[in-house]
Amino acid sequence: MYKKTMTTTSKIKYNKNIIDVLSKKNLENKTPLWLMRQAGRYLPEYRNIRGAVPNFLDLCYDSELASQITLQPISRFGFDAAILFADILIVPHSLGLDVRFESNEGPIVEQITKDEDLKKLQTSDANWQFDKIWKTVSLVKNSMPKNIALIGFAGAAWTVATYIVEGRGGKKSGFNNILKDTKENPEFIDNLIEIINQQTIPYILGQIDAGAEIIQLFDSWANVLDYDGYKRFVETPTKKLVAEIRKARPGVPIICFPKDIKYLREFCENVRPDGVSLGPEISVDEAKKLQETTIIQGNLDPEILAGNDKNKIKESVTEIMQNFSGKNFIFNLGHGILPQTPIENVEYLVSLVRNYE
Ligand code: CP3
Repeated sequence: MYKKTMTTTSKIKYNKNIIDVLSKKNLENKTPLWLMRQAGRYLPEYRNIRGAVPNFLDLCYDSELASQITLQPISRFGFDAAILFADILIVPHSLGLDVRFESNEGPIVEQITKDEDLKKLQTSDANWQFDKIWKTVSLVKNSMPKNIALIGFAGAAWTVATYIVEGRGGKKSGFNNILKDTKENPEFIDNLIEIINQQTIPYILGQIDAGAEIIQLFDSWANVLDYDGYKRFVETPTKKLVAEIRKARPGVPIICFPKDIKYLREFCENVRPDGVSLGPEISVDEAKKLQETTIIQGNLDPEILAGNDKNKIKESVTEIMQNFSGKNFIFNLGHGILPQTPIENVEYLVSLVRNYE
């Protein structure tokens, strides 16, 4: 199954392999590879820079440093794509909300809890925050290897709204306030989501104009809603966002990551992303059905990659490659790489995917 001699990955030349796959130009393809959160704390070279800049947002807005960080995993591992170093909470910050990252706490966002608070939000693409991020994109673009693709990104409106309404991150919040609002005051959530979408569209178009070649939309908390909530607050606004981006910049592939939702086929039929990123939990049958019509991306469990069982890593990677490689497939994790992941495990993963035949 694997070549006897492991070639060094950095010498292999791929011709924007990932874009070929996403645009279905070349059905038979080497499997493109990148990892969510590939620029982050598991890298000593990231921790080095991060140690000198205590405020995480300052780092996102330092275009020079952010562009270096974006390229760190490319130099080290030769992935097929670089993802812009920034955060999904740039959008709320650009709306005038206070955003902070505290160690051991995660993000803290100035809360919006009722309709009249919405008036506080400053919607405009003329803000210094977007300028800094767009500058990072163009710096990366000018210095990156020509065979690597650059991925821009944003949060999908629902996930960004969860941080704004809860005032803090993800599971820790319990999503109590926002879920209550989806039942008792759904128009408030509709309005907030519309504002986020209207701010995200120019942000993404600016990333594309600065050099982003693929867009990924992260909807990390899409699965906390019931079916009706999913239709109203995930599917409908994401469909709109994808359509607006596509209308304004046709041909730029869009990958959606509505993490762990039960309605992925319906999502793909209605939203029509070019690619869909899959969490580790999805069944092989379901993933194969999706793969008939959509490029699938995923889905190695980040816990397995972070663990100390090399055989388990090999077994899992081989299984994924056997099931999905060949066409309509991009190798990735099922969620972001964990900070404690050993570098040698990532090197091992890269050699397994690259040498798979
Ligand atoms: O390689 C990359 O993907 C870099 C760019 C990137 C970051 N965040 C950098 C980051 C991307 C694409 C994100 C997306 C993001 N940010 C999501 C969606 C994906 C997901 O993980 O579900 C979400 C929900 C956020 C919000 C966010 N940012 C959280 C919850 C946290 C704290 C948790 C953590 O990992 O510390 C962040 C901080 C963050 N964003 C870090 C990085 C590298 C760690 C900051 C540090 O150095 O301390």
